[in-house]
Amino acid sequence: MSAMPAERLPVVAGEGPTITVRVPATSANLGPGFDSFGLALARYDEVSVCRTDGPLEVVVSGFGADDVPLDDRHLIIRAIGTALTAAGAPADPTGLRLTCVNRIPHGGGLGSSAAAIVAGLLLGRELAAENGRRLSDDELLALATAMEGHPDNVAPALVGGFTLAFTGEDGVPVAIRRDVHPDVRIVVFAAQESSSTHHTRGLLPATVPHADAAANAADAALLVHALTVDPAYLLPATRDRLHQPYRAASMPASAALMTHLRAAGVPAVISGAGPSVIALVAGDFDVNAWRRPGFDVDFVPVCPAGARLVD
Ligand code: HSE
Repeated sequence: MSAMPAERLPVVAGEGPTITVRVPATSANLGPGFDSFGLALARYDEVSVCRTDGPLEVVVSGFGADDVPLDDRHLIIRAIGTALTAAGAPADPTGLRLTCVNRIPHGGGLGSSAAAIVAGLLLGRELAAENGRRLSDDELLALATAMEGHPDNVAPALVGGFTLAFTGEDGVPVAIRRDVHPDVRIVVFAAQESSSTHHTRGLLPATVPHADAAANAADAALLVHALTVDPAYLLPATRDRLHQPYRAASMPASAALMTHLRAAGVPAVISGAGPSVIALVAGDFDVNAWRRPGFDVDFVPVCPAGARLVD
């Protein structure tokens, strides 16, 4: 992740320099890779912060503008505080002005909370630079995973591409990044409805049949091969028995769309905890033929590089 020297940033009277970060949407699980696999998508939230002489200000446009708290409960402000504290810098948000342009739908299964967390941690790392320690990328991944509760969205939001996330022997999260095969294109069926990940995680059973776990392990291994080497295997590689079946009743339109796509030979999965759906297609795909009420359908390129500071 590139850092921008503070002296090159514009300074307005009464304000410190503005720091801006662009963070991609993400799709987690990808079928069999529950809480591990993720994909960064080229649809971005853009977040800026600067120091002022006044109180905390949070200005939000786009998704969530009417819903999110505009004070120190805002997720990005909390993530900034987490980074400042971890870096040993004062974490009081008084005097911060945060400006958020939200292009990732909230509660849609496209990584909006991971994007907010990653944005806040990256901004906090820059804010801490003057009187704190500079956090490493590995520390950001660990902090982001702790805030989100699982690494599969925050990992691709940080590093881009297709990521496999796991917990190392020392208990620390690790992300391995791979390029997606150039023949693979991503179709996003962004749900206009939202759902709560907290709720849909509660629908999952405490234990699953051994045969289901074994099938998912095989398909997850196959998906790494299919997404990076041989997309011909994408349809079998995107099967899942661990989460989608248990959540289907809570998102019937998404489950039906996914089932129809798969029956037509299109490798489709629920995006993260839903209710959006994504398809990983390597051949022809007629987007117009698959428009459905309640979903905004489009090709969205893979974001290769993850979150970045921008001019
Ligand atoms: N792996 C997570 C889940 C992704 O399916 O609950 C949602 O953020």
